[in-house]
Amino acid sequence: MSTSIISFSIQKSLESKINQVDWENLPFGKVFSDHLFLMEYSDGQWQEGAIIPFAPIPMHPAMSAIHYGQSIFEGLKAYKNKAGEITIFRPDMNAKRFKESAERMCMPPVSEEIFVEAIRKLVELDANWVTDKEGYSLYIRPYMFATDEYVGIKASDTYKFMIITSPVGAYYSEPVRIKIEEHYTRAATGGVGRAKAAGNYGASLYPAKQCQIQGFHQLLWTDAKEHKYIEESGTMNIMFQIGGKLITPSEDSDTILRGITKRSLIDLVLTWGIEVEERKVTVEEIVLAARNGTLEDAFGVGTAATIAQVAVIGYRDELLEMPAIETRTLSNKIKAHMDALKMGEIEDTFGWNFKV
Ligand code: PLP
Ligand code: COI
Repeated sequence: MSTSIISFSIQKSLESKINQVDWENLPFGKVFSDHLFLMEYSDGQWQEGAIIPFAPIPMHPAMSAIHYGQSIFEGLKAYKNKAGEITIFRPDMNAKRFKESAERMCMPPVSEEIFVEAIRKLVELDANWVTDKEGYSLYIRPYMFATDEYVGIKASDTYKFMIITSPVGAYYSEPVRIKIEEHYTRAATGGVGRAKAAGNYGASLYPAKQCQIQGFHQLLWTDAKEHKYIEESGTMNIMFQIGGKLITPSEDSDTILRGITKRSLIDLVLTWGIEVEERKVTVEEIVLAARNGTLEDAFGVGTAATIAQVAVIGYRDELLEMPAIETRTLSNKIKAHMDALKMGEIEDTFGWNFKV
């Protein structure tokens, strides 16, 4: 990937906020590093990008993104490994997905080269915000939104592409309790479920709140038509282990986010000789397996969530308890492997760690 010809203007912040950070009590996504990246689209093209001090941005009251939701985002992480090098996990994959989301939402694509180089430069400048504290990383949030000052409905002619970064620990601090949702719907065929569109998350908040009142962390979404097939969770893809096989909902439908963590883990476990089934997964088979004790493992996978082992699956009035965490050979092995890979303790045979 050639990055040398891309240049951005850089305005450094006069004073770093890093000394104000309480690293022992770091809430997810509330603390931001010193700089942000900003690039504007107008006159039919992307203008020169800039890295500037992190600060609020002005907003027109008619800005179209907040009225009609042309808004997409990505999430990825930078790590500091044992050798002190900073690496970013598979930014090219996020660049590709961002382009796909943009296309679905009728927004202009950002080239993969610019996407990756903007992240690389921003992380390089805020390198001291990438901690080597175990279990921590710098969460990177690229996003794009429509900025036309117009309340008519049409695709905007102007956009902002921005990147902010935030030092984070675990999104879930304990094994997750998830509930199978049979009434509300996250995404329907022909909709925008595959895109990482902001509205998908807004629409999920009310159903998620209902399950949180019942003591769950998140929902396990099912298909919109019959609520018969498992799709994904609100913040992560889902994987199950039955009879030694790894089973996960196929992403052939356009209702499931094509997770980068999921794709990476599938490639990884295939090298361990584990059989993987990407297919339609019925609620019934998972519930039956949990009831009769053949559901060996279940875990959510995602950038923020990392590998979030499932403690309990809620199904109607039933609480399906999962095997004890220490017996989860597969998810424990994947977790350990991915941590070691990101920390540079094992060879990066797939070439997933992008050096800053
Ligand atoms: N599904 C949803 C709805 C998500 O928000 C995420 C997080 O990005 C994922 C799946 C996992 O995707 P990835 O592994 O690319 O982070
Ligand atoms: C991510 O994992 O990057 C996401 O976008 C999910 C969100 C819960 C932070």
